[in-house]
Amino acid sequence: MIKVLFVCLGNICRSPLAEGLFQKKVEERGLKDQFFIDSAGTSDYHIGELPDHRTINTGKKYGIQIDHRGRQVTSRDFKNFDYILAMDENNLSNLKLVPGSEQKTDNEMLLIRSLQDHPESLSVPDPYYGGEQGFENVFEILNDSTDRLLEKILAERPSHA
Ligand code: 4NP
Repeated sequence: MIKVLFVCLGNICRSPLAEGLFQKKVEERGLKDQFFIDSAGTSDYHIGELPDHRTINTGKKYGIQIDHRGRQVTSRDFKNFDYILAMDENNLSNLKLVPGSEQKTDNEMLLIRSLQDHPESLSVPDPYYGGEQGFENVFEILNDSTDRLLEKILAERPSHA
């Protein structure tokens, strides 16, 4: 089982969308049983909450059902997950402050946009204070970067391909 965790600040916008999108791609490739996929936030702002309605609507538009409940990253996550993908540079710095994070190498805990070929920024922009268009933009970035992520993981773990 390959365990993948997506992390943003609130765990109600970017990371639940990344989780749902990656889950869909894994299912489409017939790899569902080989992956455990989750998301979490560096903050405790939205623990137990459903994702933002704009996240849910964006997912629906692309055939992705998102029913995650917000949770905060814990020290156990660094032991439990093989790959941890941060949405932006603040998320990654905050992850590195959590005890246990030192167990993860730079290849295992990284910015998701660092996997894109020519990203215009290394951060997935935080869409929380913007409009619907921000979520569309986030979807496009995550659509490309989760493709790259799946390629990376399958290249590193060929027995799962
Ligand atoms: P996310 O977006 O990190 O992509 O889930 C945010 C959600 C909530 C807040 C900030 C960003 N907030 O400040 O409550």
